[in-house]
Amino acid sequence: MEIVPLASAEEIAHLAADTIEDLVRRHPAAVLGLATGSTPLPTYRELLRRHRAGRGPSYHAVRTFNLDEYVGLAPGHEQSYLATIHRELTDGLGIDRDRVHGPDPADLVTAGQRYERAIAEAGGIDLQLLGIGGNGHLAFNEQGSSLASLTRVKTLTRRTRADNARFFGSIDEVPHHVLTQGVGTILRAEHLVLIATGAAKADAVAAAIEGPLSASCPASALQLHPHVSVLLDPGAAARLARLDYYREVYADKPGWQRL
Ligand code: PGA
Repeated sequence: MEIVPLASAEEIAHLAADTIEDLVRRHPAAVLGLATGSTPLPTYRELLRRHRAGRGPSYHAVRTFNLDEYVGLAPGHEQSYLATIHRELTDGLGIDRDRVHGPDPADLVTAGQRYERAIAEAGGIDLQLLGIGGNGHLAFNEQGSSLASLTRVKTLTRRTRADNARFFGSIDEVPHHVLTQGVGTILRAEHLVLIATGAAKADAVAAAIEGPLSASCPASALQLHPHVSVLLDPGAAARLARLDYYREVYADKPGWQRL
């Protein structure tokens, strides 16, 4: 795993945007895995800023797959993750909505298999952007999720519903169920880029990177993947025992070497 301790959320946004742009320049038909929540928003704003300034690559051939989706929201609900990603990123980059995918809660019995098939038919995800829950969840794979799981329905923990209540009127309006890529789905992507900011993520980040591989911290499954980059601000990096070492390794990295 490549652990990248950075000075601020802004630096994370710049490096994550560089990495995504780099991929799309090399592979104009890249398949991007996108995360929702608060953490990726500065990265998305940076990509949009560059795109509007005419400095970004063309995204017209890109396809995207969201990590997860709520179950039970009215179609087109503004907090659905598909509506969120249109609003926060893909519409602004000029990606046709037909090329922007999320798990489809219309038929829950077949939704998981349909999503897995859609990702496979697209040729798999080239770069998957990830956040991490304060409890160590990855996408909506809560603690105890199988590390081999594929896209399926999960029940959110009360903590996750409380964390996400800020996007809704109250915790009571946060759905109890979601469709989420499984940990096994995520591990199939070519390159995983996990971003985390703020002290509230410090324990989860330390458990994921330095703790034992365990379904009790689904994000620890990153340890099984051959190409993971973890971009951290000082708050999120604060509980890492080997922080000095990660700093040294990153400082030594030649400029030509991409994440
Ligand atoms: P956040 O969510 O970016 O809103 O903190 C991350 C997550 O729960 O995976």
